[in-house]
Amino acid sequence: MKHSIFYTFLVCFLSRQTNGEPINKKFPENFHFGVATAAYQIEGAWNEDGKGENVWDRFLHEKPYMAAYQNGDIACDSYHKYLEDVQLMAYLGVNHYRFSLSWSRILPTGQVNQINQAGVDYYKNLISSLKENDIEPFVTLYHWDLPQPLQDIGGWPNPLLVDYFAEYARLVFTLFGDEVKNWMTFNEPKQPCQYGHGYGYFPPGYATDGIGDYMCAHTIIKAHAKAYHIYDEEFRNEQNGRVSIVIDTPWYEPGSDSDEDKEATERLRQFNFGWYANPIYHPDGNYPQVMIDRIAERSKQEGFSKSRLPEFTPDETEYIKGTYDFFCINSYSTNLVNWTEDFAIGNPSWDADVSVNTYQDPSWNGSASPGLKIVPWGIRKLINWVDQTYNHPEIFITENGYPDDDGELNDPQRIYYLSEYMSNVLLAILEDNVNVTGYTVWSLVDNFEWLLGYTVKYGLYQVDFDSPNRTRTIKDSAEYYKTVIATKCLVDTCDV
Ligand SMILES: *[C@@H]1O[C@H](CO)[C@@H](O)[C@H](O)[C@H]1NC(C)=O
Ligand SMILES: *[C@@H]1O[C@H](CO)[C@@H](O)[C@H](O)[C@H]1NC(C)=O
Ligand SMILES: *[C@@H]1O[C@H](CO)[C@@H](O)[C@H](O)[C@H]1NC(C)=O
Ligand SMILES: *[C@@H]1O[C@H](CO)[C@@H](O)[C@H](O)[C@H]1NC(C)=O
Repeated sequence: MKHSIFYTFLVCFLSRQTNGEPINKKFPENFHFGVATAAYQIEGAWNEDGKGENVWDRFLHEKPYMAAYQNGDIACDSYHKYLEDVQLMAYLGVNHYRFSLSWSRILPTGQVNQINQAGVDYYKNLISSLKENDIEPFVTLYHWDLPQPLQDIGGWPNPLLVDYFAEYARLVFTLFGDEVKNWMTFNEPKQPCQYGHGYGYFPPGYATDGIGDYMCAHTIIKAHAKAYHIYDEEFRNEQNGRVSIVIDTPWYEPGSDSDEDKEATERLRQFNFGWYANPIYHPDGNYPQVMIDRIAERSKQEGFSKSRLPEFTPDETEYIKGTYDFFCINSYSTNLVNWTEDFAIGNPSWDADVSVNTYQDPSWNGSASPGLKIVPWGIRKLINWVDQTYNHPEIFITENGYPDDDGELNDPQRIYYLSEYMSNVLLAILEDNVNVTGYTVWSLVDNFEWLLGYTVKYGLYQVDFDSPNRTRTIKDSAEYYKTVIATKCLVDTCDV
């Protein structure tokens, strides 16, 4: 891509901020601080009050060993304890709460033939309780929990899901759009596509690497665009909200100054992030050229009749391009990248299509989640790269946070992580002039972390999963975040 080399060069000139005292400047007055969760990870009540089965229910009931015999059947029991959750947030003073709707709690069949009123009421009550406490709802439509009946007809590789998702989106805009002004269609679509349809260790468990993952992504990108256009045409005038999609990535830093390592690094950014981001957020639209070219070439060598990467028609490219109102990113860590020989032609896979080597510096501080090392300067570089690559959008950090394994109330390493990462977000705003308008901690409460179950804990509040009450207890990091929100300042006293 024409912009890549130039911008990689620019980004490398930002210093690797050394970790130390967070900076003593204030966040802008209108900066938004929030917390995030997702339906399957906190709600529980998996089969109560008319909720339908989703793919995570099915997958972990059939293959309980995939998440160490833990699942989200009860989770934090937020379906019953949501009023308490809102009070926890009110105490923190957050400006926004990012949560997701369980599609199958609203539409048990996945389609609009059957609307579950109890599910609708649950979200109506949650949203009004948030508004009463001056907390802005940021609502994700899809955080990985596809209704099982839609999986039974093929799941995301089936292009018909574009229409089913669009109908679901229209319904929730109708039901909740008077109160909800910030919508996110999909959360981190790469995970359900690559893990669910590539590697096969997320539901539906299909190992169709280099084929099913690209088909899954293709449908999701179109579904997002259709939901956006529905909002634009049928709701925006009256409801005046905004719609976007959340894409996640670590920061990828070249392992050395060599041109080969820089090229490999930018290639991986495009395969990992540009795959989803470019069709929607890039001024040119479409998949990154490096993906189009490499997958076409490898598919040919593998003997396929056409590229394994589906194509957008020119009309589709135009329809998808620009379907966002602000740029949402989740990011937690950084990886180093070095160049390697292209993987041998053989079984197709996304990893072979990109053919790079990633690793981490062993001196970086770790966490309870493999690969999640504490690298605060990475988020500043990522924010700058997004700003430059995607034409200076308004950027909203929709997730960032730190997992430990003990869930202790005294959690200095989480405070360290949050203060250093927020410090680098603030530097991007004040020194690099990037328009970052919000920051969101994952997560409000310890919760069900997918295949890691309850073994890693990201919460600002501890949850006692051994108690039927799922008792919440405040951690030190929550008190720290509360002070940051109140003062807009990361240290004891800030320069005014
Ligand atoms: C890439 O980095 C890894 C880890 O430091 C190293 O083992 C490997 O030799 C490097 N490869 C190249 C081609 O430099
Ligand atoms: C690791 O974390 C500690 C704080 O717990 C910090 O003082 C130290 O600088 C960090 N080390 C690195 C290499 O980031
Ligand atoms: C940042 O984006 C918001 C929303 O588009 C806009 O209102 C604001 O003026 C922008 N700020 C800067 C400094 O560009
Ligand atoms: C659960 O909460 C109820 C009501 O607050 C209380 O009476 C009970 O002792 C609690 N049980 C546990 C195990 O904490």
